[in-house]
Amino acid sequence: MNTLFALAIVVNMARVGYSAPLMEYSGETGQLVEDPEFHIFVENSQNLIKKVLEAIPGTHKSCIHSETLILNSTTENRKLQYMATNLGIPSAPTLKALAEDFTLETCLRHMSEGLQLHQDLLKAVQPRLANTENLTALMTDIRDLGIQINKMLRAVQAEVTLQPTVTSLASRLTGDYQVQVAAHLTLVQLQSFGQDIVRSLRNIALVNGDRDDSGL
Ligand SMILES: *[C@@H]1O[C@H](CO)[C@@H](O)[C@H](O)[C@H]1NC(C)=O
Ligand SMILES: *[C@@H]1O[C@H](CO)[C@@H](O)[C@H](O)[C@H]1NC(C)=O
Repeated sequence: MNTLFALAIVVNMARVGYSAPLMEYSGETGQLVEDPEFHIFVENSQNLIKKVLEAIPGTHKSCIHSETLILNSTTENRKLQYMATNLGIPSAPTLKALAEDFTLETCLRHMSEGLQLHQDLLKAVQPRLANTENLTALMTDIRDLGIQINKMLRAVQAEVTLQPTVTSLASRLTGDYQVQVAAHLTLVQLQSFGQDIVRSLRNIALVNGDRDDSGL
């Protein structure tokens, strides 16, 4: 890789806020993809995750009627974390900057598994909620995003084997309060996982020499 390009990557990663060891990136670690369609999958995914993030506040508003459950209240939501454990809501998989010990394949697999996890959690609460039109639309976008991510995964990996997500949430939704908290915590976690996905996709677009040069 030429030095200028490497420098551009470092500068851009710094701009998007990565702190992982940037110099470890190398084309030899299998992070570059030949598939000419790959950048289209990246772009489609970027549009879909944007749509998902934009829809979360409205979906929260339409399904969560408990006034104490506020989407962006970091301190309140931290206090509710014990409920996530009690309800069997697993945390989202980790996403970080591509590096030798966090390959493109791992990154895509974590995105895919995380999307499936949130989809399963939303599926568990959906039948117990009212006004689910916006939630249904959100779930369709999450599914479509998962399809795009899996196409990328297939481009870097011969066989796609994902860890099935295991959640016992449905059986723990004993009352309306549990349903409300579970829907709330899932949307809160999806929002932060979605923001991680935005960063990861930008990272992937960058190391794969996105045709759109606005980032460089
Ligand atoms: C639900 O979705 C519709 C269509 O996208 C949108 O117009 C509406 O504002 C959403 N509801 C809320 C509460 O945001
Ligand atoms: C909550 O945070 C998200 C992401 O930081 C932001 O897009 C959204 O506008 C915020 N909503 C409110 C009601 O502050």
